[in-house]
Amino acid sequence: MITTKFRSIDTEAVHAGEPSPRIGGAVAMPIFQSATFLWEGETDYHETRYVRLNNTPNHEVLHRKLAVLERAEAALVTSSGMAAITTTLLGVLRSGDHVLALDCPYGGTRGFLVDDLPRFGMSCTFVDPVDRASWTAALRDNTRAIYMESITNPLMQVPDLRAVVDFARAHEIVSIVDNTFASPVNFRPAEIGFDLSVHSGTKYLNGHTDIAAGAIIGRRELVDRLRPLLNHLGGTLDPHACFLLHRGMKTLALRVRRQNDSAGRVARFLERHPAISVVNYPGLPSNSGHARASELFDGYGGMLSFDLIDGLPAADRLLDHVTIPIVAVSLGGVESLIIRPAATAYANVPPDERRRLGVTDSLVRLSVGIEDPDELIEDLRAAL
Ligand SMILES: Cc1ncc(COP(=O)(O)O)c(C=O)c1O
Repeated sequence: MITTKFRSIDTEAVHAGEPSPRIGGAVAMPIFQSATFLWEGETDYHETRYVRLNNTPNHEVLHRKLAVLERAEAALVTSSGMAAITTTLLGVLRSGDHVLALDCPYGGTRGFLVDDLPRFGMSCTFVDPVDRASWTAALRDNTRAIYMESITNPLMQVPDLRAVVDFARAHEIVSIVDNTFASPVNFRPAEIGFDLSVHSGTKYLNGHTDIAAGAIIGRRELVDRLRPLLNHLGGTLDPHACFLLHRGMKTLALRVRRQNDSAGRVARFLERHPAISVVNYPGLPSNSGHARASELFDGYGGMLSFDLIDGLPAADRLLDHVTIPIVAVSLGGVESLIIRPAATAYANVPPDERRRLGVTDSLVRLSVGIEDPDELIEDLRAAL
């Protein structure tokens, strides 16, 4: 674990990992918009200073800060969340290997597991994220990893994350968690023993909906193993995007705490509204993962989903009438975003499978931004 002299994630988000001494005296990290750097006798290809090798000063400051924020040993920044996820899975697994994965992952992750892994001779079995017995039943001699999300999308379940770590240790397999929804402010996977976490930095880490980025964070030995593969696959974050990610991360704790509070208020409002049949939010006592979230997380996050009693026409009317949340995919930015997952990330999942997973056509997902929560609630009330 990288330790700092700071006590809280608020201070670390601002100061941890910054260059010392400051480069050219600059208080804000300058952008090193240079593809290549003077050769200083490096003898290892991966140490040569070249932008695709993820080793410019803009990459290195992010690697240090990300590791600190999750109390982990090491981190890598990538060109997108999917670059982080695909590099991690391709690096942890070898041809012939098998992975257990939660049965309701982010749509892009699901597509990769189902459509692409088999082409590399790797296979996946989907398991119930809260039922350890289903993991044991699916375990094979060639299982090398278990893959979870700290809060699942779009139903906001909280997997039995401690059990995942125990299970991985007992069977000597690698534990991986997508920590995008929780963010390091609410949950730090390394603290409970996860080997690796992955992020879409496009979401909370950047927080301003203006770049694609990703991160791989965890045990140094594994991160070091993934680094050459990332270099070969080429999932590099451009220095200018590094700068924007870095700038966004400085306000991460402020934003996420506000979003935790506002989402809690919106969830309680929706739960009492007569047009709503169910609200999925880990902060609600009615949520199946509430006890686990209360034990593991410092906050319940800014993401929630809900269903409407009058089904799809009512969901469509709501999306037509809201004026503050923007109807768009993605999440974790300063602006609230609203979407029907069945029409977007789950559009490629066969309808029967979608329904089995609980993703109805009228399910609405809301990423709560940093707007005034009273105004947001008023807007939702009027649209409903
Ligand atoms: C939980 C989760 N993980 C990963 C991703 C992929 O991230 P990116 O779009 O940055 O590749 C997403 C994107 O929505 C996501 O929601």
